[in-house]
Amino acid sequence: MLIAGNWKMYKGPGETREFCSAFTPPASIEAVICPPFGSLGAGVASGHTIFAQNVHWAEEGAFTGEVSAPILVELGVQGAIVGHSERRQYFGETDETIARRVFAAVEHGLRAIACVGESAEERESGQMDLVLRLQVEALADAVGPHERLVIAYEPIWAIGTGKTATPAIAQEAHAFIKSLLDVPVLYGGSVKPDNAAELLAQPDVDGALVGGASLDVESFAAICLAAASLR
Ligand code: PGA
Repeated sequence: MLIAGNWKMYKGPGETREFCSAFTPPASIEAVICPPFGSLGAGVASGHTIFAQNVHWAEEGAFTGEVSAPILVELGVQGAIVGHSERRQYFGETDETIARRVFAAVEHGLRAIACVGESAEERESGQMDLVLRLQVEALADAVGPHERLVIAYEPIWAIGTGKTATPAIAQEAHAFIKSLLDVPVLYGGSVKPDNAAELLAQPDVDGALVGGASLDVESFAAICLAAASLR
């Protein structure tokens, strides 16, 4: 069971150090913190498992504003989120660029949490299966069922909205994703201490990618505890 906290563009090094020294996850689950780039070093120094929020496909080069897998490895970062819907929506990421980033990450020994998920319109117009299929097949073509690849199912309508997928909706999507690519699948989208247990209890929900509720050490620890109580 993997519980990852996606801090997005919150918490500088000072707040990262404070959070990390107060955070003691249960030993039976894997807790990962994903701070913004400038706080990665502070996170790594705390001894917690730290992932970045993106990684470029090239080893180095003229790519202003990007960070490479070798740089992350040198920093002591263990993995990266790739293809978050905010990256797709605001920064033009496509299934192709995401697949290239995931490939580079795993090639360099990093783990990757690759995000997929449909919008409200895609769900309502019956296109959800097609959208998920295209997103997952791009990953399958790039790296296949790689041991360092995890998928996060994050329905866009549930991110930062307080609207969570029901456990049944999550389970159905996770089973579909696994039928296309057999890797662990995390659920993401308004996971909170009070809904974590019922989501994580679903047979094909292998963990959670937590946004807002991971910024507060008590609520993130409560979600980790809910996970630990299940397995
Ligand atoms: P949320 O974000 O938990 O705040 O909905 C999840 C995510 O964006 O990964």
